[in-house]
Amino acid sequence: MAELVDHPCVQHKLAIIRDVDTGHKRFRELATEITKFICYEALKNIRTREVVVQTPVAEASCRKLDTDLVVVPILRAGVGMLEGILELVPTARVGFVGLYRDEESKQPVTYYERFPSQIKGGTCIIIDPMLATGGSTVAAIEKLKENGAGSIVVVCIVTCPEGIALVEAEHPDVPIYAAAIDEKLDDRKYIVPGLGDAGDRLFGTSH
Ligand code: PRP
Ligand code: URA
Repeated sequence: MAELVDHPCVQHKLAIIRDVDTGHKRFRELATEITKFICYEALKNIRTREVVVQTPVAEASCRKLDTDLVVVPILRAGVGMLEGILELVPTARVGFVGLYRDEESKQPVTYYERFPSQIKGGTCIIIDPMLATGGSTVAAIEKLKENGAGSIVVVCIVTCPEGIALVEAEHPDVPIYAAAIDEKLDDRKYIVPGLGDAGDRLFGTSH
C-alpha cells in the first residue's frame, strides 16, 4: 500500500525542494519540514493506550503512545529526515542501516547496521528521501525483520511506480508514505522528475 500525502502545504514545500536552484541549506530545512508532515500521516495508526490525566479542572480520558518506536534512517540521505521525525516523536530510538546503490549494478550494498534492542516487537519507521528501484528499502526491511521488528512503515519524500511495486511484491505488509509518486525511472535509475541525488543535495557533495 502506498499513500500519497497530498496536503497543499506539503506540495508547496515539495515544489521548492525539487527546484534545481534550491541550495543545500534550504534543501535540508525543507527535508525536515516535509518529513514532519509525512510522518504525522504515517503514524496515524500506531497503538495508543488509555490514560487518565488530572487537568486543573477535572480528570480527562486521554491516549498516549503505547509502542516502542524505532526510527531507521538509511545512510546517508535518510539522515536528512531524522530531525523532522524526532521533532514529532522525540522519545523514539534510532537505528541505522548503511546502504548505497552500486553505480554499475544499481544493487544495494550494506556497509553498516546498528539497532537498539527495542527493535524486537517495536514499530520501525524506515526513512529515506528516495524510493527509486526499491532495492535499498527492501534490503532495509529485510534487516529489520531479521532483527525481530514488530511492524514496519516506510516514509520517503519521492517515489515512483517501479519502487512501490517491488516493495509491495516483497513485503506487502509494509505501507509506504510519500509526498510524491513520480512518473518513472530513467536509464540511470533516477526518479523522473524527482529531485536529483538526495544525498548530494542534502550534504552539498557532488559525484
Ligand atoms: C539513494 C537514496 C536511497 C537509494 C534509492 O541513496 O537515498 O537510499 O539511493 O535507490 P533504490 O530505491 O534504487 O535502491 P544512494 O545510494 O545515492 O546513497 P547515499 O544516500 O549515500 O547518497
Ligand atoms: N537516489 C537518489 O538520490 N535519487 C534518485 O532519483 C534515485 C536514487
